[in-house]
Amino acid sequence: MKHEFIEKNVGLLAILIIVAISFGGLAQITPLLFQKETNEPVDTLRPYTALEMEGRDIYIKEGCHTCHSQMIRPFRAETERYGHYSVAGEHVWEHPFLWGSKRTGPDLARVGQRYSDAWHEVHLINPRDVVPQSNMPGFPWLMENVLTGEDTQRKLEIFRDNFGVPYTDQDIAGAQAAVEGKTEMQALIAYLQSLGHAFQ
Ligand code: HEC
Repeated sequence: MKHEFIEKNVGLLAILIIVAISFGGLAQITPLLFQKETNEPVDTLRPYTALEMEGRDIYIKEGCHTCHSQMIRPFRAETERYGHYSVAGEHVWEHPFLWGSKRTGPDLARVGQRYSDAWHEVHLINPRDVVPQSNMPGFPWLMENVLTGEDTQRKLEIFRDNFGVPYTDQDIAGAQAAVEGKTEMQALIAYLQSLGHAFQ
């Protein structure tokens, strides 16, 4: 009788469905907030250098994350191709994280050190020069855009003060000098080469 009443009242049914789902959500999400391994860095994790940090911003700006994920799932087909599956502790200092799920191109979570800097440069200018069947767009302007580094120090400070990334005063003081005069290409490649460093 009660069941029939609920099923025939769409509004009430909707509210009860939402309540049921919220309980399910709470049961799944709450424990994660208290589990050490989801918010503590793995031992081998180091913060991005000033140049890598700028490279990461270029990666976001150019929309690389719209075609590339950075999360290896714990399945054999994935780990055989890309390496050890991703763990939360290697992403704790990333804001925002770039895990993604759209894979027009391969996952890049562990692409660091897999190719030379020179390979990346040729590939980013015109991917078809090294991968003839590639449909990735070229980014030749990265060679021309030169960084001033004027915001870099501030970025590192924000990551240290707000997100607890362990940058030293020395890292922060040297941030602009480490970036100034470098091209966007150099910064982006430095970032790509650092991906997955915690598992190398
Ligand atoms: C329109 C989708 C698309 C965009 C945007 C894109 N890529 Fe790709 N990317 C691909 C595809 C497809 C491949 C595989 C073919 C190839 O290697 O070129 C690839 C391959 C790669 C590889 C080689 C990976 C490997 O394991 O062999 C790297 C590194 C890479 N992309 C970096 C980038 C970066 C950095 C950007 C942003 C500047 C970017 N991609 C933007 C589609 C894209």
